[in-house]
Amino acid sequence: MSAPYRPMALELETERLALRLWDEPDAAGYRELVGERGDPLPTLGEATKEITDARANTPARGIATLAIRPRDGGEFIGYCGLVVGRSTIEEPEIAYELLPRAHGHGYATEAARAILDAAKATGRTRLWSTVRSWNTPSFRVLEKIGFRRDRTVTDDRGELVWLVRDL
Ligand SMILES: CC(C)(COP(=O)(O)OP(=O)(O)OC[C@H]1O[C@@H](n2cnc3c(N)ncnc32)[C@H](O)[C@@H]1OP(=O)(O)O)[C@@H](O)C(=O)NCCC(=O)NCCS
Repeated sequence: MSAPYRPMALELETERLALRLWDEPDAAGYRELVGERGDPLPTLGEATKEITDARANTPARGIATLAIRPRDGGEFIGYCGLVVGRSTIEEPEIAYELLPRAHGHGYATEAARAILDAAKATGRTRLWSTVRSWNTPSFRVLEKIGFRRDRTVTDDRGELVWLVRDL
């Protein structure tokens, strides 16, 4: 289903960050992210299987989220990438989540910029993002990389803002 788009690059580097496909050892960091969300915690085995399945599905999908590490050899700090999410494979969503200890250094913005370029290189012309109305840091990241608010909808969890970025 990835045609007519080129596959997204799965190895990206920015000034401070290396973005790569997830690896099984990232399962521990993934569990931490899920815990921060307050969602039910997967076991280490379940988290590892999610990573393995996502890797296996990447070639067919042509888009992915990439695990983020500091380039100077640090450990997993989160992820950023493209997902179908609430949108479509043609106009996917940009998604990111960082561990709290990595917040506040501009990492999400730096990673998201690289993903924007990677999305453009696939031939896509538009990206979306859906953000809960309380999530000020996420709105700020999107604003910094050129997204604009499109519409606000309400679902069973409250207000959800759709933002869009033409590439
Ligand atoms: C959203 C998230 C990825 C941002 O990561 P980050 O690396 O800290 O983001 P950046 O440092 O690149 O940018 C954050 C911006 O928000 C601003 N910000 C952070 N908290 C803020 C607050 N409470 N009020 C106003 N601005 C705030 C920062 O000052 C910064 O803006 P600036 O560069 O103009 O100073 C991180 O908070 C996170 O992982 N949150 C939990 C998961 C999540 O919400 N993901 C997005 C779902 S839509």
